[in-house]
Amino acid sequence: MTYSQASRPAQPVPDHGDNHQPIGVFDSGAGGLTVLKELERQLPNEPLLYLGDTARVPYGTRSPEEIVEFARQIIRWMVGRNVKMVVMACNTSSALALDTMRQEFDLPILGLIQPAAALASSRGQRIGVIATPTTAKSHAYRDAIRERSPHTAVWEVGCPEFVPIVEEGRIHHPETLGTVRTYIQPLLDQGIDSLVYGCTHYPHLAPVLDQVLPRAIVRIDPAVSIVRDAKMVLDNLELHHTGPLQSHRFCVTGDKAQFSLLANQWLNEPPAVEQVSLSATSPTPIYPIPLAI
Ligand code: DGL
Repeated sequence: MTYSQASRPAQPVPDHGDNHQPIGVFDSGAGGLTVLKELERQLPNEPLLYLGDTARVPYGTRSPEEIVEFARQIIRWMVGRNVKMVVMACNTSSALALDTMRQEFDLPILGLIQPAAALASSRGQRIGVIATPTTAKSHAYRDAIRERSPHTAVWEVGCPEFVPIVEEGRIHHPETLGTVRTYIQPLLDQGIDSLVYGCTHYPHLAPVLDQVLPRAIVRIDPAVSIVRDAKMVLDNLELHHTGPLQSHRFCVTGDKAQFSLLANQWLNEPPAVEQVSLSATSPTPIYPIPLAI
């Protein structure tokens, strides 16, 4: 299988295809760090360019048109910084903007929904999906799971309070447990056997979710399967980075402080974070490509 997934025609290899280029990874904020961590685990040599659109978080209550436009601006910005591939580390963008972005840009773009649905449908018969309201309303997960296994029962719950809890650093506040329980209980009442974390912010809430979810319920983190797909794309297109390790670059569109705090908690090393403007057009190259001798 190529990066294009079976149902789509293959897209051309980026003509600037050079394996020293970073993989672009984006989210509305700190949620995508959960995908970044999985990228580091499965693809430890790859340089990553992370963009958290923190000036506009949360995405999950925005209109489909806004989500498409934000993705367009971010991918354009990333293409200007020579990424070789884009990993949408945001379910909301994956649900609403992936198809349009694949039509508009000439490089591999990966979304979370299809790989996660493939994993979920192989693991569960009664699947709960917790997601942002916009993702839940799109029914992207239900449709993708049912396409694979038509008789699987799927319940999608929009959880508008989860992303603010994570972004505002309220994960360990006393009220958070009650809030999480409110959204999870209806799924437990349905007798789910597995639960998809349909928003990349939610693995940050795992310590609280674990207090509410029985152990027997299989947790499905889409990060694992999207990164597996990314690895396959790099294999097929021979785009792996093979040279010396390069450091990642972390950018945000809003305030750096809160993002840095979450990044420090989540990643092993505290990253340097820059504030950027998506409309800035003349980037300085940060990943120098060695001259061919
Ligand atoms: N983490 C993103 C997602 O997976 C966006 C959440 C938000 O900003 O509402 O959907």
